[in-house]
Amino acid sequence: MPAMIDAATNVTLTQVDAGTPMGELLRRYWFPVAAVAELDDRPVKPVRLLGEDLALYKDLGGNYGLVDRHCAHRRADLALGFVEECGLRCNYHGWRYDHTGRCIEQPYEDTADPGSRYKERIRIKAYKVEPRAGLLWAYLGPEPAPLVPNWEPFTWKNGFAQIVFSEVPCNWFQAQENSADPVHFEWMHDNWSVRLRGEKGPYAPRHLRIEFEEFEHGIVYKRIREGGDETNPLWTIGRVCLWPNALFTGNHFEWRVPMDDATTLSVGWFFASVPKDREPYVQRRIPYWTAPVRDPEGRWITSHVMNQDFVAWTGQGAVADRTQEHLGRSDRGVIMMRQRFLADLKRIASGGDPKAVIRDPKVNGCVALPVAGRETFTEGLMRIAARREFAWLAGQPEHVRRAFDEAMGIG
Ligand code: FES
Ligand SMILES: [Fe+2]
Repeated sequence: MPAMIDAATNVTLTQVDAGTPMGELLRRYWFPVAAVAELDDRPVKPVRLLGEDLALYKDLGGNYGLVDRHCAHRRADLALGFVEECGLRCNYHGWRYDHTGRCIEQPYEDTADPGSRYKERIRIKAYKVEPRAGLLWAYLGPEPAPLVPNWEPFTWKNGFAQIVFSEVPCNWFQAQENSADPVHFEWMHDNWSVRLRGEKGPYAPRHLRIEFEEFEHGIVYKRIREGGDETNPLWTIGRVCLWPNALFTGNHFEWRVPMDDATTLSVGWFFASVPKDREPYVQRRIPYWTAPVRDPEGRWITSHVMNQDFVAWTGQGAVADRTQEHLGRSDRGVIMMRQRFLADLKRIASGGDPKAVIRDPKVNGCVALPVAGRETFTEGLMRIAARREFAWLAGQPEHVRRAFDEAMGIG
């Protein structure tokens, strides 16, 4: 197989700090870092993104800000600050900053010297934040910023969405390689789950054919498994490795958000249509929760689909050593993905946009994606007889379960 990765290329693909090649490329995209409802509950949140420590806030005037974690005065933690009508105030001596990072108040300096213009010289770094689909998105890159993608499912009506965060201790790139890896589903999810249940079999249908096709917003992967054929939607439509850092399966997105070289924030956005007789349904607040990755004894949780993925990624090491790999025919999607990123490094070096940056507001009215079984999301469902456990991540809180049941008319 082609495309062996040498040590230098592995470093290039996996570094996320400012000034590194991929760090600069990633700064051309928006990343989800919090839930809208989360800031409504607690208006300041510490955020680590692309190796930078930041404080995300919503002030009393309703403005979002994303600023340096540390106050310019004597470096106190602004994630412990408090919000005012305009801006975020440091809890140490009360310096206040607005969403552009300007210092707009220095209480003692302003009192001791009413004509003081000292604050005009103080500025902390500040980045753009925008809400979409119940998430808050951050942009750390050069101006002009592109648009926050308005993916088709964000426009679907009559559905219940929920947002799930997990912190996974490994590099984001190996997590995203998992988005172009259909064969793992058979082993990591189907067959391993059989064995985790203490059963010896039978094993799940094998993958017979897989195919990968690059499109504007990512790479589509297609599969035919034993017992299936070319009419199956997973072959005719497939699933999406969504650029630059997500998996999209129709009913959910999984973003792998690079916190730093060795930590990834997994952000899941899950959509379920309500039954037809519950329409029209308008979700007033998209709930959010954090899924644990380890149990109280410190063992990895392996009972749910995405938890199983997390175990695979972290098992590859904090940063996977790709010089030691032996790729096969199953890895064509992974190779495609690496090659596209490496090509885009050259593209941005010569002034171009990398893949899947959206700048046209008309295009962004609704960005269609390949969706197997689209009707089940847009046409509504028949009544759901009984609730099933949330299969993707462990630890769904009771209040989210109840809100889901209520939306669906269960119980
Ligand atoms: S350290 Fe922030 S106001 Fe003094
Ligand atoms: Fe998976």
